[in-house]
Amino acid sequence: MTSRAFQTLREVLSSKVFEKREILKSLKSSSSIIDDITVSELLDGMKNTKILLCETSKVDLSGVKYRSLSLEEVISKLSGKHKMPTAESLLWLLLTGEVPTKSQSQSLIKEISANSELPKKTESLLFDLPKEMPPMTQLSIGVLSLSEYSVFDKKIVKKEEKWKLMLEDCLYLIAKLPRMAGIIYRHTFKDNKVCDPGEFDMAENLGKMLGWEDASFNEALRLYFTIHCDHEGGNVSTHATKLVGSSEANAFYSYSAGINGLAGPIHGLGIKFCLMWLVDLWKILGPEIDSKSIEVYVRTYLKNHEKIPGFGHPVLKTNDSRFLAQLDFAKKYLKNDELCQIVRICHEVVPGILKEHGHKNMHPNMYLHSGAILYHYGLRMYEFYAVLFAVARSLGALSNLIWDKALLLDMERPCSVTLEDLENMSKKLVS
Ligand code: MLT
Repeated sequence: MTSRAFQTLREVLSSKVFEKREILKSLKSSSSIIDDITVSELLDGMKNTKILLCETSKVDLSGVKYRSLSLEEVISKLSGKHKMPTAESLLWLLLTGEVPTKSQSQSLIKEISANSELPKKTESLLFDLPKEMPPMTQLSIGVLSLSEYSVFDKKIVKKEEKWKLMLEDCLYLIAKLPRMAGIIYRHTFKDNKVCDPGEFDMAENLGKMLGWEDASFNEALRLYFTIHCDHEGGNVSTHATKLVGSSEANAFYSYSAGINGLAGPIHGLGIKFCLMWLVDLWKILGPEIDSKSIEVYVRTYLKNHEKIPGFGHPVLKTNDSRFLAQLDFAKKYLKNDELCQIVRICHEVVPGILKEHGHKNMHPNMYLHSGAILYHYGLRMYEFYAVLFAVARSLGALSNLIWDKALLLDMERPCSVTLEDLENMSKKLVS
């Protein structure tokens, strides 16, 4: 059954799609140059090259903006009765570009929670997977298993209407992710028992299924959704989702690819490695930890390592506003938490030392703080943090997929060059 809220979401989106297609039409024949690229930029992962269209968010010097809102504005405008925004209100914002009304978010919460049960086959598949299988592998398999329910694959409609089917599939998938994460956690690390989802927002449902009955933990999950949901189009998980989706693969194939990218140690799994570094430091320095001892620790560490985990970012050149949002949360609600205090001291001490070592990219990023907050609440299975990241990132990556269809974007298929080509191009420039 379709509720009024979903019709409303569809109505809002339909009018936005109409508006944006008009803009797109006028741009279709434009030959304006967007960017250029040097050999060295190509070899360096094209981090500063603009090659993608992404409507949901943008990263500039002040950090990420969801639509045109800074993270601070997102938190203050979307939080409602909670301390942090619900995943559903974030989804509404990313998809439509509008801050939802209270009743719009409520109805989206109702609809998503009503669809949060998994098909029996997927539920048993997840319980049957070996417990030793990495949690991200389990999640990727779970997502792929839903492919048979894709309406995008089954219904034949005009190209202009396909985004509506993609929207159906994406909402279906987003609704199922908390349940999958709950099962993976309880099956891999606990007693296999998972409570049923109820009529709650995604964070509260997820919190309960993980085994927490704690309103402040749910706020931490809402914060986690808020900071991890989107980071423009080029991050590995969103880009992989968009790329696979551009082949007309359905949302399940596409997001499973995104999840596989998120499983990389310098993407989603990075949260685990940052936390390991912090906990090692904590154990080695013991209770007498202060700025001085951290400074000595970091200087010694840099004798054998080039980087400090959690500092620097491929695109951001200043403080990561997502890190600052977590710092603020910890200052307000986790005042006496030792690990969060260590993060705070590292934020004060490490950038200066990195600068002395010649680093240009030395500010803390969101990965540095993400694990410490979950650790505080007793969620200490580090491998699992990337699964939570994937639940959050679905909001942005799948909103992108819907918009890519809505804007009738073509298959992404850049050309490649050989080393010989690059050598020749470089020689030409020298001579
Ligand atoms: C992310 O949010 O995906 C990370 O900050 C990595 C990136 O933006 O490339």
